[in-house]
Order: sequence, then structure tokens, then C-alpha cells
Amino acid sequence: MKVYLETMGCQMNALDSELVASMLRSGGFELTADDRAADALLYNTCSVRQHAEDKVHSRLGWACRRKADGKPILIGVLGCMAQRLGDQLLKRHRGLDVVCGPGQLAHLPEMIRQAAEAAQLRLDGDRGAPADLDALETLDRQRPAADESRLPGQAYLRIMRGCDKFCTYCVVPYVRGREISRAPDAIVEEARRLADAGVTQITLLGQTVNSYRFAAGETAVGLADLLCRLDGIAGLRRLRFITSYPAGFDRAILEAMRDLPTVCEYLHIPAQSGSDAVLAAMGRRYSRAEYDALIDDARGTVPGIAVAGDFIVGFPGETEEDHRASADLIRRSGYKNSFIFKYSPRPGTRADDRLADDIPDDVKRRRNRQLLAVQEEVSLAANRDMVGGTFEVLVEGPSVRSRKQPAPAPEGHVQLTGRTRTDHIVVFPGPPDLAGQYVDVIITRATALALTGET
Ligand code: 5AD
Ligand code: SF4
Repeated sequence: MKVYLETMGCQMNALDSELVASMLRSGGFELTADDRAADALLYNTCSVRQHAEDKVHSRLGWACRRKADGKPILIGVLGCMAQRLGDQLLKRHRGLDVVCGPGQLAHLPEMIRQAAEAAQLRLDGDRGAPADLDALETLDRQRPAADESRLPGQAYLRIMRGCDKFCTYCVVPYVRGREISRAPDAIVEEARRLADAGVTQITLLGQTVNSYRFAAGETAVGLADLLCRLDGIAGLRRLRFITSYPAGFDRAILEAMRDLPTVCEYLHIPAQSGSDAVLAAMGRRYSRAEYDALIDDARGTVPGIAVAGDFIVGFPGETEEDHRASADLIRRSGYKNSFIFKYSPRPGTRADDRLADDIPDDVKRRRNRQLLAVQEEVSLAANRDMVGGTFEVLVEGPSVRSRKQPAPAPEGHVQLTGRTRTDHIVVFPGPPDLAGQYVDVIITRATALALTGET
């Protein structure tokens, strides 16, 4: 059976898809990148905004029409939308066979097999069922050390699941469940296996990764301790961790970033808003002043640190003054980049239950554009300051553009892209076999989005 697997959403989903693909391969399935040639179509989905869900509904519409036209395909929805919508998905898309939330992924091959055997059977593995945590942990632990779907030399490593923060707009705690930190020994062992297989950059994943805490007897292991243990692993050159939550941020993490050679000087720490009134309505557990103080501390402690953020515009009740406070925060924090989203009400969340989505879409769009423009200015100024400098770049491979239309270049060179320790994107000419290698690149030009350089 040929399986097409498409992944939407965050890095956690990318990692889940990697595990699903390897599980399917070892279960005798073949993976294909061609959705028209596949016997099974699987979508690993995201529920964080309506837009992401709409995209999946349209994919499912297409898949179900093909099936109704007589093509014998199996259709499955995995991930957050499967968890959030369960049977509603089965009702809306009559050709859908498998619905498997993030807590049940370990059982997916078995579910596919059952669905394939009983042509009419529709499997809703997740609705109401608690996450099978032991099976999920086993899946992480059994993960192959090498995997071709990853960028060369790079891997994600989950250190925790779920989220306990319950920000009022966010669906994540409902679909990914409560926060659970994995055992440090299992994490270190997994990192070691990855490093032995040639991985040199590991990105630790958690929804609020700085809340990592594993109780061991009297003491508890936090993120800074974990970074310390991982830093010593032979072969590892870079450790990152995403995404951080701005309250309860342990200074020891900043010190680890300053002192440990592998820990990269990069902090993704979403503020969501620069206004105290909006932060309170969002249920974020910090004030603007506390956030500012944290950024100052990070900059004071870690030389050369790059900070990135997320913002939501048009949260219920957001005034023009609140909006200006967010613009001001972008300038003050000097983010390397920020992701800016229009508020999207999510059914079942506290914001959706209690607050009217009262900011008209054209206002949300304008505010989104305005914050992007401020961020662009900030990014461009900071990137220009890097021109003339030399930075270590981990090469990802040929740039998208050079893959699409290979420009004739001397000595078999193509446009390569890679990232600095601070996560800046660098484009420069070089041979494709540099993918996965570290090279020093002199920066010659800067835009808001990327740096251009040469070796
Ligand atoms: N609407 C818009 N953006 C959201 N995010 C989370 N929930 C919502 C929502 N309901 C954004 C936040 C978060 C990022 C992953 O997605 O900025 O940091
Ligand atoms: Fe969602 Fe808030 Fe948890 Fe982030 S910290 S996943 S925004 S609830």
C-alpha cells in the first residue's frame, strides 16, 4: 500500500509525521510524495487557526470526491484536528476512514489495516480516549536515529508534550493534553543516538519548553540542567529549544546559553501582545514590564543573542492604543523576526466562550500589515549590521529558487541556504554536497528576510 502523508502546522507535527512515516515504513507500507498515485492519503493537521483547518477541509473534499468517483483510496486525518473534531469530521466528509489524534498515533498502522480490511469501517480512534502515553513514549524511544526526511545533520527532539498554560485563545491544551516532561535519561539517550548517526544540530521541542521539569526524588531537572547534560554529547555542535513562555523563565537557561558551547544564542519567546490589558484578557501570566525586563536580561546575559516573537492582532477588545503597544514592543525587543497572526476564535476556548470576536477582519488585516512593516524595518536594520561580518552557517541545501531553476554557476556551484547559530537565514553560492556541513560565510548583503554572502 502506497501512503501519501502531508504535514501542516508546527514542528511538533513535523516530528510526529517523521515518527508516523518511519512506523509505516517498518510496517510494510511504502511512502509516496504523489497524492494521485497513493492508495492512502493521510493529513497530519493543525487546529491553531481556522485557516489551517479550512485547508484540510478542502484537501478532504478533493480526496473524498476522488473516492466517490470510484478510486479505492483510504483517507485519514491525523493530529490536532482529528482530536478536536472527531466524529464531526466523519459526518462532514463521508469518504473519510481514519481519524487519529496526536495521543493515538502509535496505533495508526493497526487502524489503517483495519480500515483497509473492512471497506466500510470508519475508525475514530481518539474521541474521548485518553492519550496512550506509554505507547507514545515508546514511539519516541524507538525512533530511527537516521531519517532521510530530515534536513541533513539536523533533528527535532521532543522533551515534553502538551501545555498547561491555557491561554484563553489557544486550542493546544485541549488537543495536545496536559503538560508532561519526558525523562532526562531518555532524552539524553535519544540525543546520543542521533549524534552517533551524524546529527549535529538538535532542536528540543515543547509548547512551553522552558517549563520542562522532571522530578527525580527530592530534586527536579529543569531545562538548564538538561542543556548541561546534552552539551557534553560527542558530535553535537548546536542545541536549540523552542518555544519559550515568558513567565517563570529561569535565568539559569540564559546562563546555559552564554556558557555552554553548543547552546545557540537564539530565543523564540512569543509576547502575543505589548499591552497589559490584552495580555490579561489572553490569560498570559506576565505583564509588559516583566516581559521587557526578561528581554533586557537576555540581552545583558547572552552576547549576540537573537530574539524572535509571535503576536496576535485583533484579539477581542484590542484598541488602537493596545495595537500601538505591540508595535512598540517589536521595536523595543528588536526581534530578529516575528510571526504575526490575526486572532482566530477557536471553539471551546475561554476567549471564544466569553468574548465576542469584535475586531472586523479589515482592521485585523491592517494591524497585521502594520506590525509586519514595523518588524521588517527592525529586521532590516539588524540584518544590515551583520554585513561585513563572518558567521558560521549550517548548510541546509540548495535554495528553493535554485532547485526550481538551477542558474548556471561556475564550478558546479548552486545557491545554498543555511542558518547561523542565531537562526538567521544565509544564502550563498557553493557546491550542493556542503549540505549538512558548517561553513564560515562573509555577509555581503542583507534584506529583512535573509542575508546573502560568500565563502
Ligand atoms: N488565533 C490566532 N493565532 C493564534 N495562535 C495560537 N492560537 C491562536 C488563535 N486562536 C498563535 C500564537 C502562537 C502561535 C503558535 O499561534 O501566536 O504563539
Ligand atoms: Fe497555547 Fe498558551 Fe500553551 Fe502556547 S502557552 S500552546 S499559546 S496555551
